[in-house]
Amino acid sequence: MATREIIIVPHPTLRKKAEKVTDFGPELQQLIEDMIDTLHEESGSGLAAPQLNVSKQVILVEFGSEEDEEIPPKLYVTINPKITRFSQQMVTGAEGCLSIPGLMGEVDRSEEVVVEGQDRNGEPLKMSLQGWAARIFQHEIDHINGILYSDRAIEVWEADEEYNPV
Ligand code: NI
Repeated sequence: MATREIIIVPHPTLRKKAEKVTDFGPELQQLIEDMIDTLHEESGSGLAAPQLNVSKQVILVEFGSEEDEEIPPKLYVTINPKITRFSQQMVTGAEGCLSIPGLMGEVDRSEEVVVEGQDRNGEPLKMSLQGWAARIFQHEIDHINGILYSDRAIEVWEADEEYNPV
């Protein structure tokens, strides 16, 4: 188990466009393992490599079934992710971020998105997502592009409730 430190605003790495991954060797695999350990340690729902001060296009998203809480959460590792379709239908929801401690914000996101990228072995991936899963993917892919939820938030407030930052 190896966790890494999460950088917080205003660290400049959070504002850089992350580099595309071309080498799927041991260094990437170690980064992914450390990201998973860090995500679980922080009880987050998502994490992007730039949050560990690694400017690479690697994201994790973990979520359970919205209908059935008995189903264990599933972890998605996506390399070089891109949103190739945004639904026009938007939904407003609350988000927090591990790199912006103590705050939450209300953000409009597309209700459904299609994400394309690669898995941790470099094989192509394409996923259709909706609801909370679509929201986390949009948040993490923003990180890859140097965008923070606070840039998009309609309102930001001090978090005093339990939440799963991403
Ligand atoms: Ni975040």
